Amino acid sequence: MNRSNPYKRPDRFTEAAKKAGYPARSVYKLEEIDRRARILRRGHRVVDLGAAPGSWAMYASEKIGQSGHLLAIDRDELRTTLPAWCQFVQADCFALEAAYYTEFAPFDVVLSDLAPNTTGNRFTDQARSTELFLHALEVARVHGAPGSSFVGKIFMGEDFPAARGEVRKLYEHERLIRPEGTRAISFEIFVIGQKKRVQPLG
Ligand SMILES: C[S@@+](CC[C@H](N)C(=O)[O-])C[C@H]1O[C@@H](n2cnc3c(N)ncnc32)[C@H](O)[C@@H]1O
Repeated sequence: MNRSNPYKRPDRFTEAAKKAGYPARSVYKLEEIDRRARILRRGHRVVDLGAAPGSWAMYASEKIGQSGHLLAIDRDELRTTLPAWCQFVQADCFALEAAYYTEFAPFDVVLSDLAPNTTGNRFTDQARSTELFLHALEVARVHGAPGSSFVGKIFMGEDFPAARGEVRKLYEHERLIRPEGTRAISFEIFVIGQKKRVQPLG
């Protein structure tokens, strides 16, 4: 057990995830977001950005069932096997060709738990997180269906209000959720967009 690094210290979420067969405790963040905002439904087409080690993808695949489809993307490998209605692409999301998305788009849900490797410099980490968040939002803008939903993680910093504003332009409903499973020392938050507008606000 690592007592010095709070991110590695097992807690009730880590223990529960292990018991339930999920590779990461982050599953309980998506589970809470989904419970509160009702994001995932049977038959949905979903893209999961920053999918490794695979807990969100496992949870989402269970919720959408075999009539749905999930495209999971990460530069790292998954540590789980997903069901047949899911596809994993190992790639840097910035380098991924649009064809990977268009094959399965339009998506009902765009999920992004993308996170940079942290440097310890809060400003650098926030800037990188914002860049990943805005990239995910761009995927949602281009490939999300009208009426679709977005869940994106961002590290809160000075760019946060502007990033949040971009979600409001694209979705009729915008809200913030900081799930219980988020570590107390973390400055991450999830921005939820629901009901994607047919015409984004200018
Ligand atoms: C917090 S983890 C995601 C955990 C995942 N949602 C789960 O439940 O298992 C963040 C992920 O973002 C990925 N990531 C960060 N930058 C990326 C990039 N440019 N392209 C692809 N994946 C990236 C990392 O490799 C890492 O696996």
